[in-house]
Amino acid sequence: MKTLLSLAFLASALAADVYVPFYDTSANGYAAPARGWNSFGIQANQPLQGSVGWDFNDWQCVFDQHCSLLPPDYYCSLDSGWSNDGGDAHGRIVANDAGVFNTYGSLKNFTAHMKEKGIKVGVYLLPGALSGDANMTIEGKEDLTLGDIFDTNVNETNLRLPFLWGQPGVQEWHDSEVRYLVDQGVEFIKLDFVTPGSDQPGLPADTSMSAFHYHTAIQNIAPDGKIRLDLSWHLSRESPYFERWQANADSIRLDDDINNSNSTSLTSWKTVQRAIEAYRVFINQQTLNATRHGVGIRVRPDMDNLYVGNAQQMSGVSDVERYSMAIHWIGAGANLITGSDMTHLDDLGKELLFNDEAMDVANFTSQWPMQPLLNGGAPSQLQAWIAGPNEKGTAVVVLANYGPDLGDGGFGTNSSDVQLVSAPLDVLGIAGSSWAVRRVWGGGGSGGGDHEDIGVTSDKLESNLGPGESVLYKIQRQ
Ligand SMILES: *[C@@H]1O[C@H](CO)[C@@H](O)[C@H](O)[C@H]1NC(C)=O
Ligand SMILES: *[C@@H]1O[C@H](CO)[C@@H](O)[C@H](O)[C@H]1NC(C)=O
Ligand SMILES: *[C@@H]1O[C@H](CO)[C@@H](O)[C@H](O)[C@H]1NC(C)=O
Ligand SMILES: *[C@@H]1O[C@H](CO)[C@@H](O)[C@H](O)[C@H]1NC(C)=O
Ligand SMILES: *[C@@H]1O[C@H](CO)[C@@H](O)[C@H](O)[C@H]1NC(C)=O
Ligand SMILES: *[C@@H]1O[C@H](CO)[C@@H](O)[C@H](O)[C@H]1NC(C)=O
Ligand SMILES: *[C@@H]1O[C@H](CO)[C@@H](O)[C@H](O)[C@H]1NC(C)=O
Ligand SMILES: *[C@@H]1O[C@H](CO)[C@@H](O)[C@H](O)[C@H]1NC(C)=O
Repeated sequence: MKTLLSLAFLASALAADVYVPFYDTSANGYAAPARGWNSFGIQANQPLQGSVGWDFNDWQCVFDQHCSLLPPDYYCSLDSGWSNDGGDAHGRIVANDAGVFNTYGSLKNFTAHMKEKGIKVGVYLLPGALSGDANMTIEGKEDLTLGDIFDTNVNETNLRLPFLWGQPGVQEWHDSEVRYLVDQGVEFIKLDFVTPGSDQPGLPADTSMSAFHYHTAIQNIAPDGKIRLDLSWHLSRESPYFERWQANADSIRLDDDINNSNSTSLTSWKTVQRAIEAYRVFINQQTLNATRHGVGIRVRPDMDNLYVGNAQQMSGVSDVERYSMAIHWIGAGANLITGSDMTHLDDLGKELLFNDEAMDVANFTSQWPMQPLLNGGAPSQLQAWIAGPNEKGTAVVVLANYGPDLGDGGFGTNSSDVQLVSAPLDVLGIAGSSWAVRRVWGGGGSGGGDHEDIGVTSDKLESNLGPGESVLYKIQRQ
């Protein structure tokens, strides 16, 4: 009896101790993750062409078709392929104006065209510069060539060599690149293949300082020191790298790409399970490490493109799985950059990408990321997440049934049943109050309807959920 009592006491003491993680303003001055569209999913899956009729020989047209359909203030992120394989007279990576942007005349004219619609353009870069530009002099440091500052102890990869980071000339080169991008109107950089993290064989082991040099260049050159810097992929979270990303980047990719390859659909539930598991690990690294408590997380997660805009045949995930993806990307406070075919959004796709109430939740989670609390936050087919509560007593709760582990989910169980996912308020760290519950999204199946007030609770939140299904609640302390 004594033991039971003390265990009960311990449980409530632990509940009161659930640490509430929060995001801070990022290195380049952003208080919320980016929203937008990125081209990679459709680039990697050109068999989609048959069903949609895009002309993959005319990328500017494809970019324009998709990005013109975005709301104002969204980013149009152009992936690999926008630039030339040889730099300009100063070895700067520049747009393929004569090819990719020939209808507009230049990338600059394309960004101006997008800006008229309020859309911001992003481009894709890799660490280092093109090895073929070794003889070019550095703008602002004309006594040096790129060859003087290349690290030639490593092999060229993706046509590039890394720099001797920190040497004179390296910052000047990054400044010159950002000066070019600012002149072109670019407002977002996806810096890909950064290491440690990206695990393509042969990559230089450590290009993390490229994030430092781009950040410094952004501070030196960009208007108000503001261009978003997104790092990809699967970035290390060991010291000193995590600290370096936090100090220089606005978001980091937590996982490998989630796109299908050469397919007629964009993604699959197996890889989405993996991406959600990668976020679980990421947020636990913040919440379970007491030395990180009380300090805002400065770098937000990039969970890869949110492929929820199209019907199942094109998205590659079912409608309940599309809900689950959107719910988890929003709950994480991750970049909300879709890779869907914007020209074929269905009604659910519009709901999942643009619904006002869900975007209001996204505004909340852009400050308060969700953390997993069932089973102590361990991998689990059934999970309950909470974001907040904030000082006003607002919180967001997500319940999920990930369905059978398709191989990369981390939880390893395989039930296809509809299951009751039950989250006692003490497990969520919010016992002792009553909470008004609004179901923002019910998941389209067993989870119930969208946009409904469902009452007040003082003991638990629970829902039946089928495989792959999630529900998103916004709750308010009474
Ligand atoms: C950019 O657009 C302007 C205005 O439409 C046009 O005059 C100019 O020729 C274009 N630039 C190029 C390089 O085509
Ligand atoms: C740089 O110039 C030297 C001397 O002219 C030449 O041998 C070398 O091939 C050039 N390198 C590149 C990458 O163009
Ligand atoms: C460069 O490539 C060669 C040939 O594949 C290989 O033997 C060597 O180990 C590589 N060097 C580095 C630093 O990776
Ligand atoms: C995404 O596409 C790229 C390019 O085709 C491919 O290398 C990568 O393996 C794809 N990702 C997955 C999970 O298939
Ligand atoms: C894409 O798949 C088709 C068959 O579905 C195949 O013929 C083609 O070689 C593949 N392309 C690439 C780049 O893998
Ligand atoms: C906990 O966080 C601190 C501060 O960021 C870091 O130095 C340390 O390596 C982290 N510990 C673990 C086990 O990750
Ligand atoms: C989210 O926040 C932004 C910036 O504060 C604001 O402009 C927007 O109206 C908010 N959106 C919703 C749906 O509340
Ligand atoms: C569930 O299925 C996956 C994929 O088939 C398999 O790797 C895993 O071992 C299974 N787990 C259990 C507990 O049966």
